[in-house]
Amino acid sequence: MRVIGIVGSPRKGGNTATLVDRILAGAAEAGAETKVYNLNELNIKGCQACGYCKTHDGVCRQKDDMTPIYADLLASDGIVVGSPIYMSYLTAQTMLFVNRLYAFLNFGKPSTVPPGKKAALAFSSGGGDEAGYRKVLESLGQVLTNILGVGVQGVVGGGGNNEPGSVKNKPELLDEAFALGKSLVG
Ligand SMILES: Cc1cc2nc3c(=O)[nH]c(=O)nc-3n(C[C@H](O)[C@H](O)[C@H](O)COP(=O)(O)O)c2cc1C
Repeated sequence: MRVIGIVGSPRKGGNTATLVDRILAGAAEAGAETKVYNLNELNIKGCQACGYCKTHDGVCRQKDDMTPIYADLLASDGIVVGSPIYMSYLTAQTMLFVNRLYAFLNFGKPSTVPPGKKAALAFSSGGGDEAGYRKVLESLGQVLTNILGVGVQGVVGGGGNNEPGSVKNKPELLDEAFALGKSLVG
């Protein structure tokens, strides 16, 4: 059982990273082996729309730091994606990752992604339209379901988190994240 985390915040140890860590800690307690990818530290280009993946069994022609993530996505049983809200949407780092999932989009052919994966989502925002931001994450969940076939177990997060350590003072949110992580296993 393997669960990987994708962090789309540039702030190492910030709120999104903390929530993803708590989700992974829950999964680990339930028996999963875990790994985190900090997108901001990686060299990942945007999709080039070359179409190579459509004639090469979902393999992307670009060889960059997305290459090992593709392999890990295929091998993992659970996926956690976390993003802060920037300009009412996901961060650019997160969107580079999401756009590159185009490689797995099969247009009616059987998917190259093994079925049965589960997913959990996390977000952090300063304030604003928290309900709207949750919908942004739910929409991301729909994309992950369409492309990777994952069953989304839930979304954790919220506003009022401009300081990098804000969520560390929200034990209920951390507990919710931990429980969500446990739900990814089994
Ligand atoms: C470029 C930028 C754009 C932002 N846009 C929004 C926004 O539209 N709505 C909001 O509530 N917070 C916004 N924020 C605040 C972040 O969402 C907030 O600080 C978040 O908790 C950061 O998460 P992190 O600690 O994981 O990096 C923005 C911050 C930055 C730097």
